[in-house]
Amino acid sequence: MGEQAQFSTKHLIGIKYVTTKDIELIFHTADEFKEVINRPIKRVPTLRDVTIANIFFENSTRTRISFELAEKRLSADVINFSASSSSVSKGETLLDTVNNILSMKVDMVVIRHPAAGVPVYLANRVSANIINAGDGTHEHPTQALLDAYSLIEKLGPLSGKKIAIIGDILHSRVALSNIFCLNKLGARVRVCGPPTLIPKHIASLGVEVSHDVESTLRWCDAANVLRIQLERQEIPYLPSLREYAQYYGINAAMLDRIDKPILLMHPGPINRGVELSSDAADSKQSIILQQVENGVAIRMAVLYLLANRN
Ligand code: CP
Repeated sequence: MGEQAQFSTKHLIGIKYVTTKDIELIFHTADEFKEVINRPIKRVPTLRDVTIANIFFENSTRTRISFELAEKRLSADVINFSASSSSVSKGETLLDTVNNILSMKVDMVVIRHPAAGVPVYLANRVSANIINAGDGTHEHPTQALLDAYSLIEKLGPLSGKKIAIIGDILHSRVALSNIFCLNKLGARVRVCGPPTLIPKHIASLGVEVSHDVESTLRWCDAANVLRIQLERQEIPYLPSLREYAQYYGINAAMLDRIDKPILLMHPGPINRGVELSSDAADSKQSIILQQVENGVAIRMAVLYLLANRN
């Protein structure tokens, strides 16, 4: 890498805890790695002596594969741990599990866990760098970084840009990390969804609130559409997904009606026909697969900057 970059923290726990300078440094570094992964030979020796454990206690497609590819493109040694096939099922604690993995000379841990607070719990107890790959309903920092990076690629600097986050805000770690990230980059943020799925005091985070999807689409430059997270809902927050799709689902006819070129985003996995119809998800306005593509460069940048800090 061209410059001696310095990240301000040892861990990536959440966007709340990083500076705007850190975010800009990640984006600048990701630009360089994006150039690398578009070469015929996509690998650099940057993390050749670093061992990284991907510890996933929750299902994942994009984040797990993206981290693993990022690590391999940086020439790190990679181990993948999945809770379902481990000794966790025999009663081993989280900390014992992680300490056993670390005793095999592992330098960095990428962790996804259904409980909010697990990454910070580990960061306070182990010496390895901890990277949050999603903790319960708390934060998903690399998702917010790749979302903002993808927006900047399309819209330029985000200062003053209007970004809507639409859907199940209450149960979404993507929403919270996006709010922190977009606020730090100077964007205007509006959350939109049914009243039962919007946290009561969310305006205190500096966002606008709406329950009207069509007027929100008319207002924004880009809409980040979220899934209804039924797996995190212990009580019903909606009469049915069918009713949600009717009142809050986005389709191509609605995009045509607003008569304005907005970007459409989604962190995945999409529930087609619920929050997004296929004709909207696959429309020219959709940058969903570009978000996934950018995830590798963003995660390479995060891993590189954290390793470089030691
Ligand atoms: N965006 C996201 O976190 O997707 P996965 O659950 O597939 O990793």
